[in-house]
Amino acid sequence: MFLLILLSIIVVLLTLYYLNGRSNEEYWKKRGVAFYKGNKVAGPFWAFVTQNRSLFEIFHDIYKQYKNEPAVGIGTFLTPTLYVIDPTNIQHILQADFNSFHHRGVEFLYEKDLLADNVLFMNGNRWKLMRQSITPLFTSTKLKNMFYILDKSAQDFVQLLKDKPKILTEGNTFDTLSTFCSAAIGATVFGITTESVFESPFLTMARNALAPTMKTNLQFAIAFAFPSAVRRLQLYFFKEHEDLFIGAIKQVLRQREKENVKKHDFADICLSLQKNGTMIDRETGFELEPTDELLAAQGFFFFTAGVEPTATAMFCVLVELGLNPDVLQRVHKEIDETFEKYDSFTYDIIMEMDYVGKVFSEGLRKYPPIGFSSRRCVRDTVLPVGNIKVSKDTQIITPIFEMHRDPKFYENPDKFDPERFAEDNKNGEITYQPFGKGNRLCIGMRYARLQALTGLVHLLRNFTVKSKVGKGGIKFSKQQVQVRPVNVDVELILRK
Ligand code: HEM
Repeated sequence: MFLLILLSIIVVLLTLYYLNGRSNEEYWKKRGVAFYKGNKVAGPFWAFVTQNRSLFEIFHDIYKQYKNEPAVGIGTFLTPTLYVIDPTNIQHILQADFNSFHHRGVEFLYEKDLLADNVLFMNGNRWKLMRQSITPLFTSTKLKNMFYILDKSAQDFVQLLKDKPKILTEGNTFDTLSTFCSAAIGATVFGITTESVFESPFLTMARNALAPTMKTNLQFAIAFAFPSAVRRLQLYFFKEHEDLFIGAIKQVLRQREKENVKKHDFADICLSLQKNGTMIDRETGFELEPTDELLAAQGFFFFTAGVEPTATAMFCVLVELGLNPDVLQRVHKEIDETFEKYDSFTYDIIMEMDYVGKVFSEGLRKYPPIGFSSRRCVRDTVLPVGNIKVSKDTQIITPIFEMHRDPKFYENPDKFDPERFAEDNKNGEITYQPFGKGNRLCIGMRYARLQALTGLVHLLRNFTVKSKVGKGGIKFSKQQVQVRPVNVDVELILRK
């Protein structure tokens, strides 16, 4: 009897599985869109869960397989999902038709999962108002004022490596770089202190927050494929970090109110937002209270982004410098000449360093720390190339890594060639998007670049690099959206 029930359940499940796969295929066929048959029900997410590969690598395979299609439908259980390949369609989604695609594509319980209530994950009017309110933190004037914080963190970092050379021989360089990033973004968010703080509970928090465990992989897959289940299942993503992070922000804000000094950091902008009272979007009338919790959620994401992707960007540049001695030599020359020419190092000087800037851009081209972007369609619309009808609630994936390694856009894409960025407009092209594109472009783009460049320039002024690539070449660790090279390390050697 038991066997019969079990057998019936299996038959029903297999039938539902088959029907779901067929209906996904039919859905896209009717719209004249190619369909990814790797797994008709769970699409690339099946390979992600069952194989030890990063999700962007699986998308890269699909990109190559369907390179002549404007877009490919993929199975995501009951939610239609479109993986968009044609750059004109990508531009349409991220920029031209933003009003149809402004949703991040992932669901969160903001009112309970307090740290998820940040600009990256917010949507609609809430996102618009929060983004408008914190954008002033990243103007050139603000970055200029903030430069002294990053410069001090970088100088202290180099001193630490000189004082404790064991760090260089016993640790791995990615982790070592993330201690610099944590000190720099920590000082930018919480305020600078006399001693830079390289190891802190916040660094552990940043490392854990987006770590790809079985639990987080599953949670993100549910938040993408079954948006309404997040509320029904009461899924939390960052709850365990609330006490630490919100507690720290509250303490800094109260202390700063007492001191009444300007430090040109995140705490300053939080206090000015709180002083101005309720935030109001003049266009829509939407209102938000700048509570400590809401501001802490923004700081939480800034901190996480300031550590993980920024350390990846720095690491990849060092890896390539170690593999390309001619490029390394030019970088050292530019740095040495700059320090000989000027008495002090400033924001304007770092912005003038043309070759180092090109090297950094090429590093982000070859290894964009975020592999792809996601959006959700919020109203029925049509994509221009292929005249593809996209209905409300369709999930969208747009490529980043895949375009950066497409020989159609970058000749010999595996070659590290900073001269690709000799043309001024390269950074603005749709096929180059390490920081995304359009209205949801990375808000910390210029800050991240400044933090990474300041760290790299001080480091390379004092050290040279050798890269050690393991057997089988550079590989990538299993991540949800991140691009994290493994099987490679960099040796930092003190310059004579
Ligand atoms: C090298 C380091 C970084 C890289 C490669 C990076 C990349 C990205 C990418 C690809 C996106 C998605 C854009 C899109 O969907 O179109 C994004 C969004 C975002 N990034 Fe970054 N990021 C970096 C560092 C930072 C830093 C340091 C901060 C803050 C201080 C930051 C704040 C944000 C925010 C708030 C968003 C969400 C924007 C929105 O949805 O409106 N990022 N970033």
